[in-house]
Amino acid sequence: MIMPEVTGMRSLVRLLLTSFVFLSSVDNGNAGITSTFIRSEWPSIDIPLDNEAFLVPKGHNAPQQVHITQGDYDGKAVIISWVTDDEPGPSKVQYGTSEKRYDFSVEGTMTNYTFYKYKSGYIHSCLVDGLEYDTKYYYKIGSGDSSREFWFQTPPKIDPDAPYKFGIIGDLGQTYNSLSTLEHYINSGGQAVLFVGDLSYSDRYQYNDVGVRWDTWGRFIERSAAYQPWIWAAGNHEIEYMPYMGEVIPFKSYLHRYTTPHVASKSSSPLWYAIRRASAHIIVLSSYSSFVKYTPQWMWLKEELKRVDREKTPWLIVLMHVPIYNSNEAHFMEGESMRAVFESWFIHYKVDVVFAGHVHAYERSYRISNIHYNVSSGDPFPRPDKSAPVYITVGDGGNQEGLAGKFRYPQPEYSAFREASYGHSTLEIKNRTHALYHWNRNDDGKKVPTDSFILHNQYWASNLRRRKLKKHFLRSSVGWTATY
Ligand SMILES: [Fe+2]
Repeated sequence: MIMPEVTGMRSLVRLLLTSFVFLSSVDNGNAGITSTFIRSEWPSIDIPLDNEAFLVPKGHNAPQQVHITQGDYDGKAVIISWVTDDEPGPSKVQYGTSEKRYDFSVEGTMTNYTFYKYKSGYIHSCLVDGLEYDTKYYYKIGSGDSSREFWFQTPPKIDPDAPYKFGIIGDLGQTYNSLSTLEHYINSGGQAVLFVGDLSYSDRYQYNDVGVRWDTWGRFIERSAAYQPWIWAAGNHEIEYMPYMGEVIPFKSYLHRYTTPHVASKSSSPLWYAIRRASAHIIVLSSYSSFVKYTPQWMWLKEELKRVDREKTPWLIVLMHVPIYNSNEAHFMEGESMRAVFESWFIHYKVDVVFAGHVHAYERSYRISNIHYNVSSGDPFPRPDKSAPVYITVGDGGNQEGLAGKFRYPQPEYSAFREASYGHSTLEIKNRTHALYHWNRNDDGKKVPTDSFILHNQYWASNLRRRKLKKHFLRSSVGWTATY
């Protein structure tokens, strides 16, 4: 007769063995895959200005380019932003938990800027805080006949087992491929977007068209960004250093238009910050701000990593624009300087996953590190490292620069999967130990799940393994023989 506990033990051992087999397949340097998929690429051209994808809402001074982002450290606030074109109008947000019934209202602020001879609309930004967790809120902005209504759902409270589904999008731009990516993401059931930089690609234009294309992009993403937070990281296309037209202030358009809650994480710049959401601690870094030792970003990250509490937020996710591990010819080695500065911290703090963009293709690494190497000695090649994050590049949103189709050969041992096509990813956190990851290719309008795996939490999966093993061995020593 098999005791129930023995049966339990059998399933436990089976589960452990399965985990080991799976982990070894993710962690170690199996031969990586270079996908042979070649899609017939739609032309990488920006959608024309008069296309319905950029539709201006009807009515005098109607709010447009509506987008929200998390407004505090823990997810009980949102920042709502929008633009009015004709006159400043109110910066007020009315909101409540029932449709058409707005019991609360709060005043925001308004700004505008010029870029060459382009004058921006009136950019409103309003912090709505003190919200309840896990609640649907309806909100209304603008006034009179041209006011507009939207809604959003707050995340569950910070809890180690809170499930949550993030989308990851990078280098989106405003082409027909971008539209396909955006529509696929909207249908994915994702609850918030982790955006890894390069938003509108407006800097591909000149003079007044730069500002015009920021406006179209704002209207383009509104279909998602007005209803759920997009967590912003900046890329090179946000720098807009354009001295030939007298524009030399880095990130001018981006910083006026896309607010981040940097003060809540004690950051001195909106370009790098952190938030906690459900069971995740998300760190946003700026590839194009100083990050070497003693700079503000370096000092901030050092402190922020100490604030990470894996007992409360087991999932530690880092966003940056330039990938640290990239085997594409495009932007090869550009992440090396940040790797040299931050990689040892990522290993020490057991970051689960690092998402980046920049390279217009998809690539996923095994868990590897290169921290054993220094310029004086050591093996110069990355090696398997169970404490290392998985590095994922999703710079494949679909902008007008097209795909980065030339990978380097042979495929490095650390590269697990790579494919040069457009798409987006989702990370579906199930509990403190497991998350499901998918990369979805855009295949001529269809969404095709192409690369997927179970991400084991770096902190809890390993602790749990140790505890279960300890329990197992204790029982073995007092008479329980191994079940198989
Ligand atoms: Fe980029």
